[in-house]
Amino acid sequence: MAKFTNVLLIGATGFIGSAVLEAFERDSGFNLTLLQRASSKSRLPSHLKVITIADSYPMEELTAAFKGQDVVVNCMTTLSVGDQFRMVDAAIAAGVQRYVPSEYGLNNMNPAAQSLNSVFEEKGKVQAYLRAKAEQGQIEWMSITCGIWLKWGAAHDFAGMHVQEQRFVFWDDGTGYFSCTTEENTVAGLVQALKIPEETKNTNVFLSDFAITQKQLLDAIERVQGVKYKTETVSSENFIEEKRAAASQGDVLATIALVETGFVTGKYGGHVGEGGHRHEQTAWASRAHA
Ligand SMILES: NC(=O)c1ccc[n+]([C@@H]2O[C@H](COP(=O)([O-])OP(=O)(O)OC[C@H]3O[C@@H](n4cnc5c(N)ncnc54)[C@H](OP(=O)(O)O)[C@@H]3O)[C@@H](O)[C@H]2O)c1
Ligand SMILES: *[C@@H]1O[C@H](CO)[C@@H](O)[C@H](O)[C@H]1NC(C)=O
Repeated sequence: MAKFTNVLLIGATGFIGSAVLEAFERDSGFNLTLLQRASSKSRLPSHLKVITIADSYPMEELTAAFKGQDVVVNCMTTLSVGDQFRMVDAAIAAGVQRYVPSEYGLNNMNPAAQSLNSVFEEKGKVQAYLRAKAEQGQIEWMSITCGIWLKWGAAHDFAGMHVQEQRFVFWDDGTGYFSCTTEENTVAGLVQALKIPEETKNTNVFLSDFAITQKQLLDAIERVQGVKYKTETVSSENFIEEKRAAASQGDVLATIALVETGFVTGKYGGHVGEGGHRHEQTAWASRAHA
């Protein structure tokens, strides 16, 4: 049976990338190398192997960096995920066995998600590209679908949470279910999934610690903090129309608002336990900690 040893991580200085780095570091079974952009300001621990690459991730530099790696794990930032077509090509050219795209969200193969915003569309197209290459036997892939990270969401005014202002925005009646997985369980799940290569080959690994609604989320926040939040309601239909128009004019915040909409309404593959995947091979894991 295949066993992965050499792993290259892209985006190790980022939010989830730094947690993925720690998870690999706790696990002595992997030989980790990090790929960092030349302009990156963050320092990485000096005992780690770091390859520096030009910010535009040129094909030749990618291919050289990927040589000898069994797995490429990508944790690059949301708005750059379209750079990955070239990274997949480079991984194939370098003979990498498995590519893990920067996803970590909802089911980006959901057509409604892909038509909602450019981020879900690019992530979905990258996964479709990987699926096609895998069918030709050129590379294998594995993608992590984990719903929302609530800690990240609370820190970034996401999912309707505006914690500093004690304000909460509901999409419609706030009763759509969406999946949540902690950051810790997501990264543990990722590392564990790479230790069972056959089961997780060419698979969208669905992680969900629990599913909740916005109403339940606000109840929990108010209970824990012992305060009442100001609430507002937006109509999904109007909101989507407005943000789509703004996004088409290059408004990046509107794109992010459409990403938020995709998650919190639970209607775009954000509730990972809900239908739609039965036609394909899927791996399920809840409670990634063994
Ligand atoms: N499920 C959720 O709730 C949730 C929440 C947030 C994000 N996500 C997803 O998780 C993945 C990683 O997101 P993240 O928030 O962890 O990423 P991030 O912290 O914003 O960035 C991760 C890394 O991307 C690299 N990078 C590559 N091109 C870049 C550019 N043009 N500008 C800035 N950084 C660039 C940087 O690494 P170097 O500096 O080392 O080169 C950076 O540290 C994305 O797919 C995102 O959509 C999911
Ligand atoms: C670990 O990775 C480095 C390159 O990143 C490589 O030079 C070295 O041979 C690898 N070690 C093993 C045991 O494969």
